[in-house]
Formats: sequence, C-alpha cells, structure tokens
Amino acid sequence: MTKTTYDFDTVLDRRNTACEKWDSLKRVFGTEDVLPLWVADMDFASPPQVVGALRARVDHPTYGYTFATERTRAAVAGWLQRTHGWAVDPDWIVFCPGVVPSIAVAILAYTAPGDGVVIQSPVYGPFFRVIRANGRTIVNNRLLHKGSRYEMDWEDLEAKLSGARGADDCTASDASEEAGAPAPVRMMVLCSPANPVGRVWTEAELSRLVQLCREHNVLLVSDEIHADIVYPGHVHRPTGDVVLMAPSKTFNMQGLASAFAVIPDASIRERFAQAQSGLGMGDPNALALAAMEAAYTCCDDWYHQLLDYLRGNRDYVMDFAARFLPGISPLPLEGMYVMWLDCRGLGLEHDQLKEFFIHKARVGLTDGRFFGPGGDGFMRLNIGCSRQVLSEALERIQAALDTL
Ligand SMILES: Cc1ncc(COP(=O)(O)O)c(C=O)c1O
Repeated sequence: MTKTTYDFDTVLDRRNTACEKWDSLKRVFGTEDVLPLWVADMDFASPPQVVGALRARVDHPTYGYTFATERTRAAVAGWLQRTHGWAVDPDWIVFCPGVVPSIAVAILAYTAPGDGVVIQSPVYGPFFRVIRANGRTIVNNRLLHKGSRYEMDWEDLEAKLSGARGADDCTASDASEEAGAPAPVRMMVLCSPANPVGRVWTEAELSRLVQLCREHNVLLVSDEIHADIVYPGHVHRPTGDVVLMAPSKTFNMQGLASAFAVIPDASIRERFAQAQSGLGMGDPNALALAAMEAAYTCCDDWYHQLLDYLRGNRDYVMDFAARFLPGISPLPLEGMYVMWLDCRGLGLEHDQLKEFFIHKARVGLTDGRFFGPGGDGFMRLNIGCSRQVLSEALERIQAALDTL
C-alpha cells in the first residue's frame, strides 16, 4: 500500500473564518498590514481523518447532550502509550474544554484564596491571568537564561516552594500582591515543554523538580499541551500530580476546545472533578470529541510528517537568522512550533522593537512582554506555517534590518 504524503506547503486562506490569527490583526497590531506569526495555532489543514470524522458527526443531525465514552478514553490512552510510552489507566482521565480552563479548575481544587502558586517566567501569559483572576498569589521562580538555553533556578525554586521567599518581580502593576507576608505555596504550574523558551525539560530536571515539590508538599500541575511536538534528540516525559494535555496544538483543532487531565491519584482526581462540577463544566462538545477520537486513533502518519515539516522550518529559521539577521538570535527549539527570539542584540528599547516588527518588518509576532518578567527584548515567532510564508516573514525582517 502506498503511503499518503500530506501537504503542508499549500497556503490556505484563513481570512474571514473568525480566525484569531488572521482576522484580528487590527485589534492586536493596530494594522492589517502584517504577516501573522503569533498565536499558537498552525496554518495547516487538520488531518483529513479529523475532517472526515467531523463531517460524519455533523451528518447525524442531532446535537444533543454528549459525554466522553469508553472509546474516547481508550483513544487517549492509546495515543499516550504510542507517543509517550506512558501507560495510563483510562479511568485516570478527566475531560475538559481546554487546558487554561483546567488550570483554573486546579487552582480552585487545590488552593485557597491568597495562596501562592509558583510559575516560571517567561511563561505563557494566561498563567498570570488565571492565578490572579482567582485571587491567588503569583510566586514567580524566574527561569535563568544561561548561554543559549534556559534553565531552572533551583536555589530560588526551593526557597519559593518552601514559602521562605514571597511573590516577586511580576511587573509594577503587581506591587500590591507582593506586599506583606509570603503567601503559603500550595501548587506549582509547570509549563512542559516550556512555552516560550523552547525547552523540553530533561529527565534529570523533572525528577529534581518532582522531588522538591514532594519535599515541600506542593502539588505539581503540569501543562503539557505542547508535549507531542518534540524534535529528535529530546524526549518529553509526562510529570506531576495533574498532567494537562490536549489534541489541539498537535492536530490544529484549538477552536474545537478539547483537553483532558490525567490524574493517577484517586483523591486528587476527585477534588479536580468536584471543582469542575462546581463550575458546571462538562466534557468537550460533540464535535470536539469526534475530532479527538479520530486524531488519536488514525492520524499517526500525518503527525510524523508534521514533525518532519516543523523540524525543517525550525532548521530553516536557525540557518537564516545566523546568516541574515544580525542582532536576532533564536533560542534552540527543542520542541513546539513557537520560537523565542532574543532581539536584544538590536539595541532597541522594547517599544521600539515592537514598532520595528509591526511597522518596519510588517510581521505580527507575539510580544515578549506577554510572557511576563524576562520578556523584554524578546519576541515569539510561530513557525507552524508553510515554508513559503515563513520565508516571506524572514525576508521582510531582513529587509527591515537594512533600514536600521
Ligand atoms: C502552554 C499553553 N497552555 C495552554 C494553552 C491554551 O490551551 P487551551 O486553548 O486548551 O485553553 C496554550 C496555547 O497557546 C499554551 O501555549
């Protein structure tokens, strides 16, 4: 049987589909005239098997109440076994309509108002929002930028987990949260792999982290939404008391809102389920479940070809930047399709840097400040697009650099 070759080169027109990446340029960048490489979805079509499963579900013209069946659980468990070598009992899985909503559920389940929640900036912006919006205190254990990669600051982490050091450095607007006695730290939200800094944490790093959390009785929630996109030489290892995952990044179905938590411990799982029920939050919707089942059971070939294509994009950016983008250094990307660009070599103030990318280069990247302390002087580039769009973006940046 001949193997299908999937097409990641064709540029799809995503405009006028209420597409956040392409249809909200004016709101986000103040102009329509930018090539968008920001929010973390891909410009590729989802696998044809996912599209087929959605069509088949839509063709049955009843869209009443639904739930994740044994088949859905088996599909998720099968994927985790094949992709991550992780043997999961299907009963450990709790389905949710998103990873960020699940972080909110975890906050409600495992912490009390005022408690400290450790995060490691620069990190995905909504971590800050969801902790604050639920009246908890951000305790930031900043990542260290060491040479060409980021590492954890172990000494500071231990001090923060033990509650010896309070909240800190979360920008001036957080000053009120930082005042007063250190908040008792009950939970840590790890980003693994780490968006935006590009790390896939090693086994040694993760074991040390788990050990520290155990010693200090801090519950570890690990956001592993990017876990499936890992490049050769690196291995993703599911970690923590509550592991949050989703098919959304991998199969480009973010708009379907589907995710799940894997929680091996029955009492920790029960608390999560109770908090979810208290919010009236149920399983993903009928279309999301149909898409998820198809993604996790019949798209392995598509997925492996996607990984190859993204790796090609990553290598292309590294090579292009080294040759033609002086002052801009992409951090080595171990996993994910978002690259962290160190632009401090351009010698611009952060606002000038934004202005440079939007108005001179006409590319729409994610502002480094979205990721909290440590984001100044950085931008995040989404490489989940056709090579043609990526090269157009890099050439625009190169041309703009000539005008500096
Ligand atoms: C680390 C991380 N967590 C969560 C999300 C969003 O998850 P969801 O759309 O399932 O709420 C993203 C999206 O970019 C992300 O990068």
